[in-house]
Order: sequence, then structure tokens, then C-alpha cells
Amino acid sequence: MFQRDLLKDRAIFLTGGGTGLGRSMALRFAELGARLFLIGRREDPLRETCEEILRFGGAAAYATCDVRDYHAVEAAAAKADQQFGEINTLVNNAAGNFIARTEKLSANAFNAVVGIVLNGSFHCTQAFAKRWISRKLGANVLNIVTTYAAANCGSGFVVPSACAKAGVLAMTTSLAVEWAKYDIRINAIAPGPFPTEGAWSRLMPSKQFEEHSKEKHPMKRFGRHEELANLAAFLLSDMAEYINGECVVIDGAQWLRGAGEFNDLLLLPESTWETVEGAREKKS
Ligand code: HXC
Ligand code: NAP
Repeated sequence: MFQRDLLKDRAIFLTGGGTGLGRSMALRFAELGARLFLIGRREDPLRETCEEILRFGGAAAYATCDVRDYHAVEAAAAKADQQFGEINTLVNNAAGNFIARTEKLSANAFNAVVGIVLNGSFHCTQAFAKRWISRKLGANVLNIVTTYAAANCGSGFVVPSACAKAGVLAMTTSLAVEWAKYDIRINAIAPGPFPTEGAWSRLMPSKQFEEHSKEKHPMKRFGRHEELANLAAFLLSDMAEYINGECVVIDGAQWLRGAGEFNDLLLLPESTWETVEGAREKKS
């Protein structure tokens, strides 16, 4: 199904490409012939991922960039275009998230997550769309959201993320209509739980809660990275040319069993929240 040259004409700008699902997608896209330009704030994971791609004969480069800063995004986009001729694909994967009792959040905590997820996705989309539209270059955008991004869903305890991802989903469906005439296709993927260091360290309050999540899952397991990477490759490929403005859920039917991935944190006793919050205070 996945021919080795499926993505050979793709030059992909992938945000948050040094770690977790971004890294897994980068490796898979490169295996399928794409050239990858990765961005993130930390240099080490970006360099390491690029080195791995280069080792197996793929093409990859990176730049450090905070997606909250539009000028930094513009600079990274220019560097990426220079590196690969022209970027024709964007994957908005970078995100920030953590569990918290919403009444304890500071305004800055809310802004930190919304700035990365919603503003960051808009910044990257806008920076490239301006180029694509003026150069009459057909292109493709893929946004990584979450199952609780659906407007009638949401989730307690991750409210900044739920607000921001819902915004990204609204951007996806809106621009699919507005920019179809420019031959720009824009879709989203809503993953269920896929173990990554970034997500697990911020979202799993205990081993017990992780076991509870797995036990409650209809398939009794979490997602495998290659499952998500293959779905993303398909959606970016020409095989999916008539799919536009769609959000594909990949969660093994988890959200059908009970919407709002973190709503079960209602089960957490006050004392556990105090421990989680105390540990954070000690660190900072
Ligand atoms: C409450 C918190 C907090 C927490 C940070 N803050 N962590 N508040 N609980 N756990 C507050 C800080 O006190 C500060 O507010 C403000 O948020 C900004 O924090 P900084 O550390 O200065 O921000 P920054 O360095 O920009 O880091 C952003 C971040 C961080 C989002 C807070 O976690 C991060 O860098 N995340 C990137 C990676 C990530 O989150 N990966 C997971 C994606 S998983 P004050 O008022 O004190 O200044 C995902 C999965 C969804 O999205 C579904 C999963 C199944
Ligand atoms: P992750 O490894 O923590 O990925 C987040 C990436 O975003 C990191 O590489 C991080 O790199 C980058 N990033 C964060 N803030 C940034 C900023 N301001 N500017 C540029 N880059 C930034 O977590 P993940 O689990 O792989 O998540 C990847 C995507 O999948 C996210 O969109 C997430 O919401 C989504 N998702 C994940 C799950 C899951 O179960 N894992 C479920 C649903 C949705 P730096 O820190 O170096 O900047």
C-alpha cells in the first residue's frame, strides 16, 4: 500500500519534529521519499532526528524556532525554502499541554498553551500560504489535534489545550473551503493516546491512572506510532486528493466509549492533586 516513493515530491515543514509523534512522522515520511525540514525550540532532538534520516539516505535539515513568534517562523520558512527549493507541505504538530485544575491556572499558563497550539499553527500556516498563493503552488497542510478538540466535546483538566485544539480544528475546516481554489488542501488527525515522553510526563499523574486509561480503552491498548505515521502519510499523499477539511480520528474507538480524554481525572482525590501541584512548585 505504501510505495517507497509515495511522498517523493514532498518537501515537508514539520513542527515539533525532534521528539515523539513528530519524530516518528518525520522518519516515516523520509522513508517514503519526502525531504524534511524540522523545527522546534531545542536543537539536540532536531539534530538527532535529522542525523537518523541522513544515516538511512534520506534528506533532512532543521532550524530552532519558537512557533509563538511569527517573525521567527517567517525566518525558518525562508531557510526551509532555501534548503529544498520550495516547501509544499506543512505539518502543524508542535504542542504544549499539561493537566491542571483550571481554577488554579495563571493567565500566563493559559497563554503558553494557546500560544503554541493555536497561534503557532496559524503562524506556520499563514507564513507558507502567503508563499503558495503568490507563487500559484498547490500545497497540503496537516494539523495534529486531539479527540477532545471537537466543539461539542472538550475535556476537563486540559482546558487551554481543549480551547486551542478546537481553534485549530475550526481553522482546518474554514481554510479547506477558503483556499481550495488555490489548490491548498488542509486536513487534521485527532489521535487518541500514543505514548510519548512529552505527553506522558505532563499528562499521566500516576502509573495507576495510566493503567486505568488502558483498562477502560475498548481495545485495551494505546496507539502505535507507526499507525499514526502511516495515516498521516496517506492523508498527505495524492491518494487522498479529494479529502479536504476532514479530521480523521485514530484512537481505537476510545472517545466513543467516553468523550473527554481527561475527564476521568475527576476520580483523582484532592490529596493527589496536592502532591502533583506540590512537586511542580518544588521544581520551579
Ligand atoms: C500549571 C503550569 C504548568 C502545570 C507550566 N505552567 N506548567 N501551570 N500546571 N503543569 C505555567 C507556568 O507556571 C507559567 O505560568 C506558564 O505556565 C508558562 O510556563 P513556562 O514553563 O514558562 O512556559 P514554556 O517554557 O513556554 O513551556 C510551555 C509549556 C511546557 C506548555 C508549559 O509544558 C512545554 O514546553 N511543553 C511542550 C511539550 C508538550 O507539552 N508536550 C505534550 C504535548 S501532548 P506563570 O504564571 O507561573 O508564569 C498533547 C496530547 C494531548 O498535547 C492528548 C494526550 C492524550
Ligand atoms: P511531544 O514529543 O512533547 O511533542 C511536542 C513537540 O512540540 C516537541 O518536539 C516540542 O519541541 C515542540 N514544541 C513545543 N513548543 C514549541 C514551540 N513553542 N515552538 C516550536 N516547537 C515547540 O509530544 P507528542 O505526544 O509527540 O505530541 C505531538 C502532537 O500530537 C501534539 O500536537 C499533541 O497535541 C498531539 N497529540 C498527542 C497525543 C499523545 O497521546 N501523544 C494525543 C493526542 C494528540 P521543543 O520542546 O524542543 O520546542
